[in-house]
Amino acid sequence: MNQQASVRFLTDLPEEKMKNELLQAFTARYGTSNEEIICIASPARINIIGEHIDYNGGKVFPAAIDRYLYVILRKRADSKIIYDDIRFPGAMEFSIADTFTYRKESQYANYLNGMLSILQKKGCVLNTGFEVLFFSKLPAGGGISSSAALEIGFGRAVAELFGFHIDAVDLAKMGQESEHTFMNVQCGIMDQFSVAMGKKEYAILLDTSTLEYHYVPLVLGDYRIVVMNTNKQRLLADSKYNERRAECMEGLALLQKVKPIANLCELHSTDMPLVTKTIHDERILKRVRHCISENERVQEAVAALQATNLVQLGSLLKASHASLRDDYEVTGCELDTLADAANAHPCCLGARMTGAGFGGCAIAIVQKDAVAEFTARVGEQYSAATGLTASFFACEAGDGAGRI
Ligand code: GLA
Repeated sequence: MNQQASVRFLTDLPEEKMKNELLQAFTARYGTSNEEIICIASPARINIIGEHIDYNGGKVFPAAIDRYLYVILRKRADSKIIYDDIRFPGAMEFSIADTFTYRKESQYANYLNGMLSILQKKGCVLNTGFEVLFFSKLPAGGGISSSAALEIGFGRAVAELFGFHIDAVDLAKMGQESEHTFMNVQCGIMDQFSVAMGKKEYAILLDTSTLEYHYVPLVLGDYRIVVMNTNKQRLLADSKYNERRAECMEGLALLQKVKPIANLCELHSTDMPLVTKTIHDERILKRVRHCISENERVQEAVAALQATNLVQLGSLLKASHASLRDDYEVTGCELDTLADAANAHPCCLGARMTGAGFGGCAIAIVQKDAVAEFTARVGEQYSAATGLTASFFACEAGDGAGRI
């Protein structure tokens, strides 16, 4: 099989058959040795609701999904670290003696070296080199957190290979620290937490001010969650993300002069008169209003799901998208077009962007027998309006990163 054909073959392969094929691909790439080969599957995540509030102490409601990135690795006898990827063949070489630093030309290896640098900082010693092969079924940069899947999957793989005892929550914190200090993205912890802590059939209600969490059964009866990818290149997403965070911090600093709060999500909609009186910059006011309303929607959404009131859950998703469009201004034409087309479909209960926004993915709750017709119709409307081709898949909640 040529390279393209084997990528296609692996992409379509069911989960239970992946490990064997990946092990074969690994030995075809690196040869045989007596060392054990470790294989980790690391999931993507969706966020059902609670967007852009994980860095404002809010409650978020994400789930790991049953789509994975794979990390296959083995110790070497020398001190080399070699990365290679089935989809983008070409080795990148480093050494266990390196002091890892961000380099633009290192591309995806920055996520890996970032994790190694944090491991080093925590005193974890790599006593020998190792070789790694990656494969992924996740759209890169698509808003379902392929980067967290890579960081956490790789971190878990290295921890297992060298016997470092790192629990899933600590691993998530390390992933976030690597984003902050190595990648210069001031993200919250939601992505890394959901990838590390995901549980099949459950979503996670996570309080980002305390890291307390509860698993909530994601029971959707006759409905499915459909992920809709705008396939729009997310230019400048990282810098706009950091800009939104800075705007929230500005709002917080103003409000702290009139109320003793540690973060924006301690406020309620009943505090809005005070917020309006205190913040005169319309842009900052809108950011703060989104944080307050979104945090309340999360709690209502969880209650709706627990009461199997999916119609109410759908309405909350629509309201969340509107707030991200009008108050937080992170949607853009492509995400709006997809969400509007989905929300206009009679078999869709509600749709919204998921993740950071500025392109990337949206999710929709769709009647299960109508999924094919839904994706065809929404896809057509999207192409007609934007000239781009969206991609779609239905998903279920899956387990967090772990050995297969
Ligand atoms: C990105 C970040 C998360 C979160 C979302 C928006 O995915 O990595 O921490 O802030 O955006 O909710």
